[in-house]
Amino acid sequence: MPESPIRKLVPFAEAAKKRGVEVYHLNIGQPDIETPEAALRAVRENDIKVLSYARSEGSETYRKKLSSYYRKNHIEVDANDIIVTTGGSEALLFTLGCVSDFGDEIIIPEPFYANYNGFSVANGIKVVPIVSTIDDDFALPAIEEFEKLITDKTRAILICNPGNPTGYLYSRQELEKLKDLALKYDLFLIADEVYREFVYEGIQHHSIMSLEGLEQHAIIIDSVSKRYSMCGARIGCIVSKNKALIGTALKYAQARLSSPTFALLASEAALETPPEYFEKVIEEYDERRMVLINALNEIEGVKVSRPKGAFYCIAELPVTDADVFAQWLLENFSDRNETVMVAPASGFYSTPGSGKNQIRIAYVLNKESLIRSVELLKLALEQYLN
Ligand SMILES: Cc1ncc(COP(=O)(O)O)c(C=O)c1O
Repeated sequence: MPESPIRKLVPFAEAAKKRGVEVYHLNIGQPDIETPEAALRAVRENDIKVLSYARSEGSETYRKKLSSYYRKNHIEVDANDIIVTTGGSEALLFTLGCVSDFGDEIIIPEPFYANYNGFSVANGIKVVPIVSTIDDDFALPAIEEFEKLITDKTRAILICNPGNPTGYLYSRQELEKLKDLALKYDLFLIADEVYREFVYEGIQHHSIMSLEGLEQHAIIIDSVSKRYSMCGARIGCIVSKNKALIGTALKYAQARLSSPTFALLASEAALETPPEYFEKVIEEYDERRMVLINALNEIEGVKVSRPKGAFYCIAELPVTDADVFAQWLLENFSDRNETVMVAPASGFYSTPGSGKNQIRIAYVLNKESLIRSVELLKLALEQYLN
């Protein structure tokens, strides 16, 4: 199994903290936003006497409410098209297992969410990367390039929209092109849409399940983690109109019995979150996004992509090996007893040698902390390069 680039430097961060150094965490997508009160209350005010198993696919009431949420987002599904999972992580693990046999291939635009590598390895799948580049903010690579990679072992194309780590938001035209390809070669199109709500600059998010004609090929991966800032709940789901896919996913779900009961209660209650919550949260992320991008752009030698969604960006640094630099930040650098932790981007690629001078930054800290973090990065680069 590959290690997680997001977590592999944790021992060095812990050591820095033991030395009394404060570490700003730009490495992990753990939002500091408060979880909606309704979700917390559902757990706090519950006097359950037996903490029993839940249904493997999630209760009908929760799945019905989820389908209403999807319909509001132009995704026409009902409760039977949904399997509730233990996080988007489990949804990915199950889905990749459902669509492939050992030795099969899936095509993923890179850089991609690093754990796609781990879930593919766990399922005996070969990841076939297709490179997107920082110069065009990681837009969809030319569709002919995808076509060149399709073999008789290809089962699916996996995209993340909006993207982690790129922040890229696919346009309807790009999705239509992927749809045509999926239909032409009878492939699944899997879209990880866990950041659906987090889009900026007035651009609309389009789900693959709103594309007409793709019903039997489209699979959505979803999660409550980021939407309601409840990463610790560990609840997500698989959504598809394809009955065979949902039937197979159910068998995986039955094998692990159920998702955690308290977390299911909280997730169901979270669906009552008022729109004003999202308006405030999205405005906050949007402001952080601009603060971060503007500050990074002011550092000489740093190139940064402009994210349109999610809460990450990729920055290219004037260093040859960002893995070494990221570790150095934790082991050898501090300013006024503070340092910053970033995720080296090489782990978000599967082409060896790619992304070596890039890092991923999560803008999940408040603006003041973000400004200080970028200042620390700037001071560190000056010291590192001299
Ligand atoms: C793109 C993407 N997909 C899936 C996940 C998994 O989320 P969870 O298992 O917390 O639902 C994450 C978490 O960061 C993510 O960024």
